[in-house]
Amino acid sequence: MKFTKSTPLKGEVAIPGDKSISHRAVMFGALAEGLTEVTNFLHGADCLSTIACFRQMGISIEETADTILIHGKGLHGLLAPADTLDTGNSGTTTRLISGILAGQTFESVLNGDASIQKRPMKRIMTPLSMMGARIESLRGNDCAPLKITGAPLHGVRYQSPVASAQVKSAVLLAGLYAEGETSVTEPAVSRNHTEIMLHSFGADVRTCGNTASILPNPRLTGQKIEVPGDISSAAYFLAAALIVPGSEVLIKNVGINPTRDGILRVCREMGASITFLNKKEGQGEPACDLLVKSSDLKAVSIGGSLIPTLIDELPVIAVLACFASGTTVIRDAAELKVKESNRIDTVVENLKAMGAHVQATDDGMIIEGGHPLHGAVIDSHLDHRIAMSFAVAALAAEGETEILDADCVRISYPDFYQDLARLS
Ligand code: S3P
Repeated sequence: MKFTKSTPLKGEVAIPGDKSISHRAVMFGALAEGLTEVTNFLHGADCLSTIACFRQMGISIEETADTILIHGKGLHGLLAPADTLDTGNSGTTTRLISGILAGQTFESVLNGDASIQKRPMKRIMTPLSMMGARIESLRGNDCAPLKITGAPLHGVRYQSPVASAQVKSAVLLAGLYAEGETSVTEPAVSRNHTEIMLHSFGADVRTCGNTASILPNPRLTGQKIEVPGDISSAAYFLAAALIVPGSEVLIKNVGINPTRDGILRVCREMGASITFLNKKEGQGEPACDLLVKSSDLKAVSIGGSLIPTLIDELPVIAVLACFASGTTVIRDAAELKVKESNRIDTVVENLKAMGAHVQATDDGMIIEGGHPLHGAVIDSHLDHRIAMSFAVAALAAEGETEILDADCVRISYPDFYQDLARLS
């Protein structure tokens, strides 16, 4: 896929459904009794992996362009899968399903693509084993493939060393099947979609500061869920509108859950012109439209408890930092190393190729803004967020940029390039 410098971006874009919320809607719908109807579901490859896994476990799921219908069979209604469950490229599918599988009465094997087979699973194996789960990394490297043999579970109070919604959710989901209360305390609050949605399905979930807890054996009831647009996808249009001079873009229906909105706070601190319009609150997940105008940006320092609220947006924030005056520092973000690619390395390598002044650190990067970018060949490393971040950078760079394996955007945003092209 090739890009050149863009004329001002103008118009509106409707953001596809939130990936994290779409996964959870399928999973919790499968465990609920009765019908769950999901609108604005994200038809990205990751969420389709979740659908495929639950179909393999006997759940009927109807898919149309607008709606997903999940015929839930209750907490104990899943069937043993005949084959390995294929989680594709999806960390959320792999880790959350592991929590559910730990509490079943059957044995299952989970595996995914080459990237999934390198991502750390010890972070879920440890707490699930503490709960009594039998979970084994078949290659002995604490990565997938994982064999999970259902076992009686008991509640624990788990202190997670990482702020990770995938870890928290895996433990809470296992807690549905455990004896007694299960709680997870994190070093900083990660996205709370599991807590919000499980509560609306009827689970007894509570949060207090950095701790989320759950009681077992609720009666989960099918729900109607309208998925808000994904702020992680909106981030690319936000960034593009900010750095391409003369742009004015209306980004419609963006989820602004406070555990996810760090990019908006950072952009405002950088001096971005963003107006919040049409705020609405649906089932505990707030959303609004964002009117974004190109702006003169200044550098920021990003770290601490802000990091989990913008972890997936850091690649595109690094791009923004190249267009800001001053030096931006990103710290406390070592989690970037264990995403779909090592995002410290892949961001720094590709920004350097475009002429940016950037340096990797152990837990983030330092970016000296104000040095113009030029076109380059960008290796996406098959990481959707790297491909989209550098498509944005290319719109404000001199000359031509070529993105390799650009179609990896199908993971979270199949129509990304078409939507971007319509604005430029
Ligand atoms: C996600 C949690 C985050 C995020 C990922 C989606 C989720 O991962 O990076 O894209 O849906 O729970 P971690 O839990 O590993 O931080």
